[in-house]
Order: sequence, then C-alpha cells, then structure tokens
Amino acid sequence: MCGIVGYVGHSDGRVNAGHNALDVVLEGLRRLEYRGYDSAGIAVVADGTISSRKKSGKLSNLITELDTRPLPESLTGIGHTRWATHGGPTDQNAHPHLSDGGKLALIHNGIIENFAELKLELQGKGVTFESETDTEVAAALLGDIYRNQLGGDVTNGGLTRAMQLACQRLEGAFTLLAVHADQPDVVVAARRNSPLVVGLGDGENFLGSDVSGFIDYTRRAVELGQDQIVTITADSVEITDFYGAPAEGKEYKVDWDPASAEKGGFPSFMEKEIHDQPDAVRQTLLGRSDIHGKLTLDELRVDPELLKHVNKIIVLACGTSAYAGQVAKYAIEHWCRIPTEVELSHEFRYRDPIVDENTLIVSISQSGETMDTLMAVRYAKEQGAKTVSICNTNGSTIPRESDAVLYTHAGPEIAVASTKAFLAQITAAYLLGLYLAQLRGNKFQGEIKDILADLGKIPAKVQHILDNEAQIKELGRSMADAKSVLFLGRHVGFPVAMEGALKLKELAYIHAEGFAAGELKHGPIALIEEGQPVFVVVPSPRGRDSLHAKVVSNIQEVRARGARTIVIAEEGDEAVKAYAEHVFYIPETPTLLAPLLATVPLQIFALALASAKGYDVDQPRNLAKSVTVE
Ligand code: F6R
Repeated sequence: MCGIVGYVGHSDGRVNAGHNALDVVLEGLRRLEYRGYDSAGIAVVADGTISSRKKSGKLSNLITELDTRPLPESLTGIGHTRWATHGGPTDQNAHPHLSDGGKLALIHNGIIENFAELKLELQGKGVTFESETDTEVAAALLGDIYRNQLGGDVTNGGLTRAMQLACQRLEGAFTLLAVHADQPDVVVAARRNSPLVVGLGDGENFLGSDVSGFIDYTRRAVELGQDQIVTITADSVEITDFYGAPAEGKEYKVDWDPASAEKGGFPSFMEKEIHDQPDAVRQTLLGRSDIHGKLTLDELRVDPELLKHVNKIIVLACGTSAYAGQVAKYAIEHWCRIPTEVELSHEFRYRDPIVDENTLIVSISQSGETMDTLMAVRYAKEQGAKTVSICNTNGSTIPRESDAVLYTHAGPEIAVASTKAFLAQITAAYLLGLYLAQLRGNKFQGEIKDILADLGKIPAKVQHILDNEAQIKELGRSMADAKSVLFLGRHVGFPVAMEGALKLKELAYIHAEGFAAGELKHGPIALIEEGQPVFVVVPSPRGRDSLHAKVVSNIQEVRARGARTIVIAEEGDEAVKAYAEHVFYIPETPTLLAPLLATVPLQIFALALASAKGYDVDQPRNLAKSVTVE
C-alpha cells in the first residue's frame, strides 16, 4: 500500500549521474502506482528550497498538474502514490506533507498508531494541521525535533538524527522518506513493518517501496532490516538503527528485466499477466528436480529431520493466495498424509491456534509484504513453529523473516488482481508437498516423477486455453449487464470457484459468490432465479467418477430452478453438454492439477466483462496491490 520513491543524483558529469530527480521519481511512481492510486505527490529540493506538487486521483492527474505548474530541475526528490488510510483521497491529504516552515517534506506508507496523542502534543506547541492524516503528524514531529531539539543544526546529526529521534516516538507500521532544504543532497528514510529497498547506482542512489521504483536505473538493491534508518546521498548509503548504532543491509541483484514489468503489447497488465502464465508455471518448476524426478529444493534450508517430524501444516495467506493454499491442501494431504489447515492470516492469531515445534507454517504471499500474513508468521514463530514462505518477491519481508523460502518465479505482477501469481503459488506449494512426500517416504520416487512430468505439461495446456480464449472473452463481453454471477465447484474446484468469484467482484464490481457445489442445497440455492448465471467447475469424468456425477447433479439442481449454466469441463466430457448453455473445455489433466487450468477461463471471463464495462482492470477501485496495513 502506497508507493514510495526517493532519489539523489550527482552533478559532476559521471556516467548515469545527474538525472533530473523529477523524471526518476515520476518513472518510479509510474511503476509503483499499482500499490495505491488515490492520489500522488512529489517534492524536490532545488535552490535551497523545497518545491512540491500533489493531486488527488491517479498519477496522470499529478502529471497534468506538473505540466501546468512545473517543478524546477533538481538532483534530489521524493515521490508518493497513495492508498488512503487516514483521511479521504483529497489534494490536502495527499503526500508529501511539509513542516519546519515548508523546509521539510515527508512521505509515508503505513499507519502511525499513536498519531492522535502526538498531534495533541504538537498542537500544544502551537503546530497547526491542514490534513486529516497521520503522515502530517509525523512530518510535524520530525520538523519539531529538527528545529527545536537539534537546533536546526546539520552538524548536530541533521535530518538523520532527527529521523532517529522521531522514530523512537512513533508506534505502528511505517516507511518514511524525508528531504530538507538545509541538506539538498540527502534523502533520509526509515522503516518499521513496512517495505523499503535501496537501489545502488553509479553516482546516484535510490529508494523504493520495491525494486520496481528504480529498476530502470539499476539492478543492484539492498534489503533493509526492521527498525532501520537509511541516509542516501549520490555517493553513499548509511544505515543505522533507530538509536544511531551502525547497521548493515544485504545487497542482492534484481533478476528480472524492466521489460517484464511492461505491458508487452497487451492493452492491460492483467491481460499480459494472464498470458504470462505458461511461463510463470514453467519458471517456477525450473531447476527444482533432477533427471530422475528427485526434487532438489536446495533453497529450503530447513533441517530434513525437522520436516520429517512435522505433524501438522498450517497454510497462512489472504485473498487469492489463500485460495492457492486451499487448492494445495487437497494435494498435500493426499500426497503426504499430513493434516493441513488453511487459515486466513488475519484470523489466525486471534483464535489461540494450536501451534508447536512440530507444526510447519507455510505462508503464501505474492508481495511478501502483506501485513496480516507477516504478523501471523511472526506469531507462529514465537510459538516455536517452523516457517516456510512461498513468495514471488525477492527480498521482501515475509521470506526474510521465515526459516525458509520457496520463491515462485512468476515475474513482477503489476495488475492489482492476482493471476499469474496464483498459478505459480499452486505450483510451488505442490513442489513443497511432493518434497515432503519424498522426504517422508509417502510416495515412491517413480510416482513423484510422474506427477512432476504432469506438472511439466501444464504450461503447454495453459497456452492451449489462451490460444482459444475468444469464446470465453465473447461470453464475458456479452454479460456486461449481469448483476450477479455464482460459481460452483467441488474438491479442488471449490477454491477455483471462489477465485473466479473474487476476480469478478474486484474487477467488475458485481455480486459474485463461490460455493462448494454440495453446499448449495443447504441454503444458497435460494438465490437461484430465472436467468441467474452460474459457472460450474466440473471435475474430470475419468478417475473420481462419483465426483463428476455429483457435480452434474448439482448442475441439474440449479438448472431446474432457472439458472443459466456455464460449465468448465475437461475435453471429451460430452455428458455435460446436455446441462449447459455454454461449455468451455480445458485439456485433460490429473484431478489435482486441474485448478491450474480451470482458473484460466474464469480470469479471462472477469477481464472481458470488466473491460466491456469500461473499468480499469489494472487498478480496480478501492484496492491496492500490497496490503501493508492490518
Ligand atoms: C486478489 C488479490 C488479493 C491478494 C491478497 C494477498 O486478486 O490479489 O486477494 O491475493 O491481498 O496478497 P499477497 O499474496 O501479496 O500476500
């Protein structure tokens, strides 16, 4: 939530040095806009003063404002794109917020929990506030410390020291970036429970909520730890804790190309990312087994003996990632015979869960920054559990704080609604399940090899669905007026149904609900009336025949009450035709792998329907990509 960028460049003519801060920061904000798009703002330091512009609405509004009221050229700047928490998305509440008589500008991601008492204290000193935000309080506190406690004296530690002292007083979650007119070549930042990375350039340095904030300029990044302050100039990066003790960050190389974070000729990031899915699955499988089908998850640095003694798995995740976990539960329990629970992260620690050293916590998070999941993982660690993170974002907080990580290699996911990360998460969770089965001897090596071979065929099968997307797109467009769509599934098809409904809710803003098909008759069937569209995810008629027959019965039940049924079925399943107005076929695959295929038409349907309604599918209303508040 909220995208943050900071930049300091050099003016001595070195290679790469001396970009205009405004250009760098705007480019970073463009790439980070998926994190929040209620308002945007920027501040630069030039000619001994701070100049700032901010505007409610999307980044394009700020750009229009900058065309009308340009900012001066500068080598130091900060920028922010907001997802509102305290105070609505107005110009006034947009960041940056100024203090110290307009000489200090500050931007913030997170929530400052003790803002009310700090505000009262500052008001008592005569400070007045223009916005409803907690951020303005942080700016005022920082300004007050700089001016009144440190005497506005840069030789007294300046902005860095002021930031350390301010952070000692702040509670909650925050990334803060500040510039001061007295120190025109410095940006100071702080982080607690909120993301921040440093980008290392040649004669210039960067800050970003994630690496996409500076990926156009450098691939060298530094992870910051919890409760750290970083001061960047063009030539230096200095890290301390909140009390001024020197600290170190961990440098790493960003392994994706800026081009992979572009639309690549598609009208939206979401459409591009749906089409990235064959590759997302392929990359996630790559290099994780040898030619004998033996899984070699070297990165999973948990003592195999510990994994052998795991007697319970708890998957922690939110939203789409939690649906990936629900799919994985079926496979992990089947393959490993380990009881597996899937819990929404935000519910987990409030119910006194039973967790001990034989519990394996598997968190699933695309961003690796979801606060609910991070807090749940921390809680589980405190109880002695081993924690494994399945994550798509290198160097993010959840994998860093977990005992081990299995990265999904889906590449950057920019569209707010998750698509390719979902398929990659299921794939990674399956690898983990198979690895546990291998370690514990629940499956013969040959069986594991066969499942891996089936997984290896998934990318081509997803591609087949994408190559034949015209029919489902057409249906989506034709249903732009639908008021409500229901989704039914059984077994692994149940989480797929919920994911299909979530995609439609968040993109098209219409009522959509996913149900376990067998549950319908226990109540929700009352929703069915003449013409009600109902998607049904039908399992393969091969193998678990009874499941197929049961779902076909469920289709008949809703049709008998007037539903318009749209069926996702396996190629060759002719039987369903008699019960469906529309059938979309997916290639044959083992039941447990079917979610990797059945989800794809549902994503395309939601995309087409929302696009037909004229909605922005990349940035749906009220949402943000990375949910860094609880
Ligand atoms: C839905 C969606 C969200 C995320 C959820 C968890 O399309 O994207 O439901 O899945 O906010 O996010 P991560 O996976 O980053 O923890």
